Amino acid sequence: MTPPESALTALFRRAWDAQVGGDPAAAIAIYRQILAGDASPAEQGQAWLGLGQCQLDLKAPDQALEAFRRAAALLPDSGAIAHMVKMLEGGPAPDRAPDDYVLWVFDGHAASFDAHLAALGYRGPEMIARLAAEAWRPSADRAVLDLGCGTGLNAPLFRSYAARLDGLDLAPNMLRLAARRGYDHLYKAEIHTFLRRPPTRYDLLLATDVFIYIGRLEEMFYNSNHILNDGGGLLFTIELAAEGAPPVSLMPTGRFRQTDSYIRDCAARAGFTVGAWLDDTLRVEQDQPVAGRAYRLIRSGTAGKA
Ligand SMILES: C[S@@+](CC[C@H](N)C(=O)[O-])C[C@H]1O[C@@H](n2cnc3c(N)ncnc32)[C@H](O)[C@@H]1O
Repeated sequence: MTPPESALTALFRRAWDAQVGGDPAAAIAIYRQILAGDASPAEQGQAWLGLGQCQLDLKAPDQALEAFRRAAALLPDSGAIAHMVKMLEGGPAPDRAPDDYVLWVFDGHAASFDAHLAALGYRGPEMIARLAAEAWRPSADRAVLDLGCGTGLNAPLFRSYAARLDGLDLAPNMLRLAARRGYDHLYKAEIHTFLRRPPTRYDLLLATDVFIYIGRLEEMFYNSNHILNDGGGLLFTIELAAEGAPPVSLMPTGRFRQTDSYIRDCAARAGFTVGAWLDDTLRVEQDQPVAGRAYRLIRSGTAGKA
């Protein structure tokens, strides 16, 4: 039998429901209620963190930064909170989001992920599937690896290309859901670490909505080149930064954007040619379309140095 929920757990759950349900003001009121009670320092840190996120949703970055700084003081070992503070303070973007930030964003909320993305009209998997269909017949003879597979939305679209369909992700709860979608092997792993010692070579690598958490792609492209067979493909999406913006920028949403010229430069240096690309709305957030670009890179030579 499930043990009864404590009053504090119930408050956190209600705050989270309000937050993802699009009512950040109501969530803030509940987080303040938690902070006014006798929560432990760690629980207060979590409440400040949630409150900061709600302030971000309300487009109040100064209040959000103040909340994240309070959270950081209470939870000094959290790379996730340090990442939020860094993001709002500006300055040079880190290379990628820390692992504990990715786990914090995804692992706790895996169960609502598909419904949440459907509500945002998310199109990443369809975008790369269109690029694949233009280039290849779906003959099931390839080894395909889905990087940051999440709950496995790519799997049904790429099963017909794959003799072997593998997925990897940092978040175990996402992988548990992906297991229902017909992968042959699922790995709990960090992408860079996995690509350094892959179990086999692949013909096709997929990465949808993952490079929003990996800003700098030099090492990722370099290692992808090394694990792909000749003529192999790398299909992925990015949130597109306008030309003239920094090549890689960390947005107040906690996600990275890259420019097209940065992608092309990294691809060329890693031994890829750009086979094709297409633009579409990746998802719609708070009624604003998020511009996305999908690429089909083809391994055309050996990678230079990362
Ligand atoms: C926005 S979700 C996208 C999931 C899936 N690709 C899709 O299109 O539905 C991003 C996923 O990438 C994973 N992820 C982010 N950074 C990662 C990393 N460095 N190594 C492994 N997985 C990562 C997250 O855990 C999450 O499941």
